[in-house]
Amino acid sequence: MQEKLNQTEKDFKQDLTTKSGFDLKVKYLGRKNGLVTNLMKELATMNEADKKQWGPEINRLKKNVEEALEKMTTGEKQTDGSFDETLPGLELQTGTLHPITQITQELSNYFTAMGFMVLDGPEVESEFFNFEALNVPAWHPAREMQDTIWTEQPGVLLRTQTSPVQIRSMLKYGAPLYAVAPGRVFRYEATDNRHDHTFYQLEGLVVDENISVANMNAFLKLLVEKIVGDKIKMRIRPGYFPFVEPGVEVDVECAVCHGKGCGLCKGTGWVESIGAGMVHPQVLAYGKIDPKKYSGFAFGVGLNRLAQLKFGFEDTRMIHQNDLRFLKQF
Ligand code: PHE
Repeated sequence: MQEKLNQTEKDFKQDLTTKSGFDLKVKYLGRKNGLVTNLMKELATMNEADKKQWGPEINRLKKNVEEALEKMTTGEKQTDGSFDETLPGLELQTGTLHPITQITQELSNYFTAMGFMVLDGPEVESEFFNFEALNVPAWHPAREMQDTIWTEQPGVLLRTQTSPVQIRSMLKYGAPLYAVAPGRVFRYEATDNRHDHTFYQLEGLVVDENISVANMNAFLKLLVEKIVGDKIKMRIRPGYFPFVEPGVEVDVECAVCHGKGCGLCKGTGWVESIGAGMVHPQVLAYGKIDPKKYSGFAFGVGLNRLAQLKFGFEDTRMIHQNDLRFLKQF
């Protein structure tokens, strides 16, 4: 009996550091097979002399166990002092939306408020939508402008731009059409501060009667103001894209260096942010819209650049590095 008592006491002390209060209660005081309960049952069957000898011992053990469990549930200190209960607990971390998500949502809301549809398109795209229907046949030198990641299936690629959604939306909805399409695009590029193989664009398309270059310019100005505020300078200069005529590029004054020249703006003080232009009549025709009746403009916003301008960071690759030190800042 003495041995049993010692063993039970020893086990209990050890279990105390590893088991939950509930498990301890079941194991030692459980009505059916609790170790202490069984000792009590045994006590009841003993003769008077044994009862006298072991009764106090067994009762002492029972009391100890009960007291320890009581302390445990009231949260009183149990251990030998090696655990410092005054240390702060684990902090619950709240996440934030990724800068690209924030910009995408903000712009989508903005365009929705102006009556635009927000669309998406496939990231694995056909050569037809990504190039041919955008006025870039296989022999066209403009294919070189975008180093493409092809799949093993002929004619199937990772879209190099969100512009294929222009064609898809024209085919699906016809004119008049007011739509934006944010999304991920891919290019086979050497990466640096300003280039990544995977990045984000927002495509915009307006097709209606009597849409002019003046409408486009006014719209681009509004867009830049919305994105970076009206304090920041912008400029519109000619640019070449095969699916628009005329085509323009919109530069925004660098938000990191404010025009002085830095890594983000390659020392020029300006950051290319938007490509745009009047939709080429041939492209409207590919979208089964009558170019004699309708005209329109399209624009593509580089969301990585925009995030860099808005939040002021120099390396576009941060966007995909999942570095919490970076992400927590936004
Ligand atoms: N798709 C073009 C690019 O990725 C940008 C663009 C979109 C230009 C729409 C004009 C009109 O470079």
